[in-house]
Amino acid sequence: MRDINQFTVTQAVKNSFKTEPGSRFESLLQGFIDHLHDFTREQNLTQKEWIDILNFLYDCGKISTPERHEFILLSDVLGFSALVDMVNSKGGATEGSNLGPFYLDAAPRKALGADLSDGREGVLVLVKGKVTDTLHNPLPGAIVDTWQADASGTYPIQEQDQGQDKYDLRGVFEADADGRYYYTTVLPKPYTVPYDGPVGKLLRAGNRHAWRAAHLHYIVRAPGMNTITTEVFFENTEYIDNDAVFGVRRSLITKIVPAKPADTEGLELAKTPDAVCNFDFVLAPEG
Ligand code: BEZ
Ligand code: FE
Repeated sequence: MRDINQFTVTQAVKNSFKTEPGSRFESLLQGFIDHLHDFTREQNLTQKEWIDILNFLYDCGKISTPERHEFILLSDVLGFSALVDMVNSKGGATEGSNLGPFYLDAAPRKALGADLSDGREGVLVLVKGKVTDTLHNPLPGAIVDTWQADASGTYPIQEQDQGQDKYDLRGVFEADADGRYYYTTVLPKPYTVPYDGPVGKLLRAGNRHAWRAAHLHYIVRAPGMNTITTEVFFENTEYIDNDAVFGVRRSLITKIVPAKPADTEGLELAKTPDAVCNFDFVLAPEG
């Protein structure tokens, strides 16, 4: 190994790991080493640039806490999270999109037709749709777990110190016998991803903004089907074409339209909506 040089070092590093031949771990590790070394050679990386990158990663670690995972944020703004969602999307099923940092796994169960807004200011929108499989068969009993920001772009969980309940603007619904779900809520507004840390510094260095297009978050699941984690966006709203974390997909954009009496017919609603939007979720069979 003493005759190592910039062209032989890559294989030497790969050979130094005694991984199980053909294993996924071996493939991921070797691919990572190959790309990292290729990047270094292609860019002719200087020692200063190398230490700047490592210090940047160190800063990401330093600012991270159980509530703030700066590496996930880094992955988001680099489109890495979006790419992982894209390569894992199943044909015919609803496309996946960002989970984001504000999911809580014990959100309260709500009856269909419930109102999540709890009197908050903003446009009261009826959100409704169907959960089906890829052959359009309804999935009765499918679970639709949703969470969102308010009409000023804030998640209640971010304002617990101001007396907000972290479970507000969230709900877990069970689709009815026809696979339908429906509830009213306040229309969310755009908000910024945290930009007071190293990732914010990176965005500023690249002349980028930190805004996310307004969205509703969902995790939708049903027995025997692949669970989807996704987001629903609204046509003609700010940042829809330059979301800071590349979460928007054409298929995830819906229209908000003024509510007509026909929209609420047959639905037992706690509140009368100003507007309505429809979004159907499609789940693919497990496997
Ligand atoms: C969110 O949608 O809540 C989010 C996603 C990525 C980074 C920060 C927030
Ligand atoms: Fe969000």
